[in-house]
Amino acid sequence: MSNPLDNHASAEIAARVERRWAIFMVLLVLVLVAMVVFTGLHWAMMPPSRVETVDPETLHVSGEFVESNLGSAVETDGSVTVRVVAQQYSFTPQCIVVPANTPITFRATSADVIHGFLITDTNLNSMVEPGYVSTFRTTFDKPADHTMPCHEYCGTGHQGMWAHVKVVDRDTFMQMASQSGNAARRLSCVK
Ligand code: CUA
Repeated sequence: MSNPLDNHASAEIAARVERRWAIFMVLLVLVLVAMVVFTGLHWAMMPPSRVETVDPETLHVSGEFVESNLGSAVETDGSVTVRVVAQQYSFTPQCIVVPANTPITFRATSADVIHGFLITDTNLNSMVEPGYVSTFRTTFDKPADHTMPCHEYCGTGHQGMWAHVKVVDRDTFMQMASQSGNAARRLSCVK
């Protein structure tokens, strides 16, 4: 039989251990909440929780996502907006040219089913859903070629669905854009 003193001591040890674990858990929760706030404020995690809807049935007829409005457009503040439509089994445009060291806003939506939007070697990674506009911002720090594979299974042609993102230096881009006119937003990936 253990004596009452031993029981008392072990109860105290148990209480101390429990208190330590409780403090650890509270700290863990605080760290996780801080991470959520940080990534939310800095758009470091995609997709941000915002909801913008669009009618997938009329994408090609009117509005922002008509074919002539897709691709890279230079905004008045010097930033670039890229509009992309995903459909079984391709992205429009197939080739996206963007300038380096320039704030880029991607706006993407789907004409049919859920597709994935991922640019290799970057943290851009989102779902593209019919009925919703996925928006994400980034800046490419140097000229490079990236592939943009669809990463959500969307049907039998899924593995063949990808596009090409070509980052060129800002001067080259502005030259290309002024030559083709802002109305022709499809810049070619091949020079
Ligand atoms: Cu589109 Cu997979």
